[in-house]
Amino acid sequence: MRYAAPPYMYDVLPYPSTKEPWLTTARWRAVERHFREMVMRAGYREIRTPILEPTELFKRSIGEATDIVSKEMFTFVDRGERSLTMKPEGTAPAVRACIEHGLFAEHGLLKLYYIGQNFRYERGQKGRYRQHQQLGVEVFGAHDPAIDAEVLALAMNFFTSLGVRCKLHINSVGTAECRARYREALKAYVAPSLQHLSEEGKMRYEVNPLRMLDTKDQRDLAILAGAPVLRDFLTDDSSKHFEQLQGYLAALNIPFAIDDGLVRGFDYYSGTVFEIKGEGLGAQDALGGGGRYDGLVEECGGTAVPGLGFGIGMERCLLALEALGIQPPQEDESPIAFIITAGEQPAVRTTAVTLLHSLRSSGIAADMDYLGKNFRRQFKRADDLGSRFYIIIGEDEVASGTVQLKERTTGEQQKIDIDSVVQYLSGKAL
Ligand code: HAM
Repeated sequence: MRYAAPPYMYDVLPYPSTKEPWLTTARWRAVERHFREMVMRAGYREIRTPILEPTELFKRSIGEATDIVSKEMFTFVDRGERSLTMKPEGTAPAVRACIEHGLFAEHGLLKLYYIGQNFRYERGQKGRYRQHQQLGVEVFGAHDPAIDAEVLALAMNFFTSLGVRCKLHINSVGTAECRARYREALKAYVAPSLQHLSEEGKMRYEVNPLRMLDTKDQRDLAILAGAPVLRDFLTDDSSKHFEQLQGYLAALNIPFAIDDGLVRGFDYYSGTVFEIKGEGLGAQDALGGGGRYDGLVEECGGTAVPGLGFGIGMERCLLALEALGIQPPQEDESPIAFIITAGEQPAVRTTAVTLLHSLRSSGIAADMDYLGKNFRRQFKRADDLGSRFYIIIGEDEVASGTVQLKERTTGEQQKIDIDSVVQYLSGKAL
């Protein structure tokens, strides 16, 4: 029996795999670190929520008629007869946690970030998986369009500072009342052509008309081409908020395009919505997206607290870097020193093992061979790992309490007291 990872889920390995060569833990961590440093500079604090949440939370927040809730959730009944769902996204869990722990009452403005796994039973393809990771932020408590600009700027800066070419698409979906009026107008416009819509389009017409706009079907697009636009149904407050946001984006020199068809796949959005699209990524070009959800906290049982945020797709970000031939800044995983032993004498190995452990306890990355490799192959292993120094120990060194220390790149070699190796390398490791 050969086991494999579940369909459209993948392993992240320390070495490039044949299936997903762009996916390595070093790249993964580099991008995470980049994100973490950026949001922490902007005052965001980390939140971690469980993988599992009550199913009802997602039904209520994302909406029963959305694709995610109606057909893509990993849901099961646990041994205590509770319906649980593996989180398909991070916003609703963050809202649930903040309500549960009373954070809204304690903090006027709450700025959170997360890095987390999400699960959606999707039709998999390149860039679309059943388990994906998002780098996200959520801000609670502010209506000010300047915070919308902050959130959008963070998402855009994340990509541009990595060298990824992308475009910001924005729209406003207004308040629930704007959307209700628009829904009627859209349905009235589409009604005469209803029989020509795709099956998916017909279904959306009935259960979630706004989602008709989020289609790639050419026939549906043709029918919708002259449809009324949501922006014309915005209240004065919503329009003003959206205009102010555009003013801030212009002041920050962040180019954007207003996209009337941008409605996003969740029912919780209100006001600003946005998506960041990468270049040259094919169908799965949404690198990240988000927006405002001013009614969500109340909908989930909290007080009326406005909110907004975004989620960036980690895998799509790595794919975009790969497509552009950009290596994200990687953490150096090479050891400072590799200990090489000469001869079989037990005292030599014991000296090596002891030195290895004192180097590591002093914070110096060090390694040695455990496969009984010969002298030459131990050097080869040190070279493969990219070690900066070789520490060579043989019978003579053990007898004299010394080691041979050789710098790999310069070839410079010196004999030093074994007791001063840690101190010497501590200076070099800085
Ligand atoms: P979303 O647009 O569903 O939004 O996901 C955000 C990003 O996650 C997408 O733009 C995409 O890059 C990535 N993504 C989504 N699904 C997959 C998948 N199956 N495979 C690979 N990548 C994927 C949300 O989830 C919202 N919670 C974002 C948000 C936060 N809105 C407000 N706050």
